[in-house]
Amino acid sequence: MAINKSNKLLVRADLNVPIKNGKVLDNFRIIKALTNIDQLKKISKNITFISHLGRPNGKEEEYSLKYIVSEMSNIAGQEVQFINECIDLDEKIFEEENKIFLLENLRFHKGEEENDLAFAENLSNPFDSFILDAFGAAHRSHASIVSVGKFLDSYQGLLMQKEVDNLQSLLTEVKRPYTVILGGAKISDKLNLVNSLLPIVDNLILGGGMCFTFLKAMGKNIGKSLLEEDFINTAHDLLASNYGKKIILPTDFGTTKDINSNLRIDKDIIDFENDDIGVDISKKSIEKFTHTINNSKTIFWNGPMGIFENPAYEFGTKEITNLVSNSNSYTVVGGGDSVSAINMFSSLDKFDHVSTGGGASIEFLEGKKLPGVNIYKSLII
Ligand code: 3PG
Ligand code: MG
Repeated sequence: MAINKSNKLLVRADLNVPIKNGKVLDNFRIIKALTNIDQLKKISKNITFISHLGRPNGKEEEYSLKYIVSEMSNIAGQEVQFINECIDLDEKIFEEENKIFLLENLRFHKGEEENDLAFAENLSNPFDSFILDAFGAAHRSHASIVSVGKFLDSYQGLLMQKEVDNLQSLLTEVKRPYTVILGGAKISDKLNLVNSLLPIVDNLILGGGMCFTFLKAMGKNIGKSLLEEDFINTAHDLLASNYGKKIILPTDFGTTKDINSNLRIDKDIIDFENDDIGVDISKKSIEKFTHTINNSKTIFWNGPMGIFENPAYEFGTKEITNLVSNSNSYTVVGGGDSVSAINMFSSLDKFDHVSTGGGASIEFLEGKKLPGVNIYKSLII
């Protein structure tokens, strides 16, 4: 892109952050979206950010992007001007130099999710060029991802490029041993990921709610722990397959009789009673995983080991966070829950790459071609 001080630049970022009572709970995506702001200033007259926030049904106040403006201004080091609409805008607003603008939530209009071309064109109207930098939403065929670029001189952003390079490296030139650690509630959400990674990895550590379907498939009594009955056969087949030996499961758990209580009893899986609910992994499992993690040269981690939001059930997720943080290997993390855990128990800079994408990073590693990835020329500044 030629340095051009008359360039009114539109940037599609993923500013979809958790907000409660008008307060931003986690600013990770905002920080990432603004990482390259100084470079963008050099190639523009002014910069306008667009994003979705949540899944509103029409214009719903609680999903207004106005709630992120002060956080954005702090991080950008200059005042960000919020404009409470994203289409039908007066082009004169964008004549001012050196400004940063933020437009209102794209999903307040049906045209965004319906990928309506007229909406995309309207959105693009006041601007000269476009950067697609919303990796977290790159798995959505929405207007701002796949269509706005049809009307402007368009580029793949620097954050998007970094995401693609790091995640791609997990599918190709990995240093071995390569260990993937997966957690989270449901195996159904991650089955495609398990299927695509199993042939590539050396070890697949499974924790979180999803591991109970595997333990059930092995004939264990899992009490009242999370189970997806429809996937017991699939789990059984995976364990019995050529790759089954790569799967490493926990052997002991933090259990409770009531997930709303803080009462935790640690026990081996063989000691589970019919009303026990596994809510975290426990010490012996961590010891078992430690050796594998410490010997790895590449680690990808996605998903917590238990209900870590409750301090009584945080042990396993905290231990995994610290083990991966302190490992000497190349470490990549994906998914909002893992990022929250890192913010609680460690720090993001201890990892080689922390993806801004949850669903997008998973679909990428499933080997899918994401609608928003590699559709525009690279941005070289
Ligand atoms: C995310 O948080 O996963 C992305 O911002 C995409 O949001 P969506 O799942 O609502 O499309
Ligand atoms: Mg999502």
